[in-house]
Amino acid sequence: MPATTADTASQPAPDGVRHQPATNGPRHIAIIMDGNGRWAKRRHLPRVIGHQRGVEAVRRTVRAAAEMGLAVLTLYAFSTENWRRPEDEVSALMGLLKRFILADLDEFAENNIRLKIIGDMAGFSPEIVAMLGNALARTAANTGLTVVVALNYGSQDEIARAARAAAAKGAITPETISAELDTADLPPLDLMIRTSGEVRLSNFLMWQAAYAEMLFLDVLWPDFGRDQLEAAFAEFARRDRRYGGR
Ligand code: IPE
Ligand code: IPE
Ligand code: MG
Repeated sequence: MPATTADTASQPAPDGVRHQPATNGPRHIAIIMDGNGRWAKRRHLPRVIGHQRGVEAVRRTVRAAAEMGLAVLTLYAFSTENWRRPEDEVSALMGLLKRFILADLDEFAENNIRLKIIGDMAGFSPEIVAMLGNALARTAANTGLTVVVALNYGSQDEIARAARAAAAKGAITPETISAELDTADLPPLDLMIRTSGEVRLSNFLMWQAAYAEMLFLDVLWPDFGRDQLEAAFAEFARRDRRYGGR
């Protein structure tokens, strides 16, 4: 039977029976939100406008993911390499992060959304660390969608930190490293999406992506939303995951 998206699964069938949501849908989706700069450049606008529109795409995508019953949405917001950008762009991104937390935390709290941060918080200002700590505490008991924001995140940094922690406790094995990753408490990554047409991981979830399905889209991040997320669910349902077996 062909799999349905969560959306079509909730429609009554011609026989009037309301079918169960697809059970083969992804539980954990990660997105490399790329293309804000190009979106702005095409419109002869400053890059920061592209980042602002990118925040709106985050809002749309979080709402859609919650409504579609996704368990975990992991968003690559700032990489360990993004500090290489000009200082004005880095500070504009930090400003957007602060504003996003102030403006959207109530909606997260009301909609049973749990916030989680991955990456190395040591890289951030005390003000941002305190804001994030407060946001985490406010949503910690929520049981709906988990939104994981990757900040000052790099997969190589994460694996090195995890390997050090595992070594301090004893044997280094795939299991003991996995147990020390920032994502240790999350379900396995099912689907990795990158927007903007680039076909690379840029140091995102390299360990976790071992058996994730990959979806590279030409759409620029500010143009992403519910339609693209639904199409990604449908594409995922068409994939045949084998995990090396047969
Ligand atoms: C992604 O958009 C946002 C961040 C990396 C923070 P970019 O700013 O990388 O946009 P492009 O790739 O230059 O178009
Ligand atoms: C990856 O995008 C990081 C985020 C989306 C936060 P980049 O734009 O930084 O990646 P590269 O430099 O094109 O590989
Ligand atoms: Mg980019």
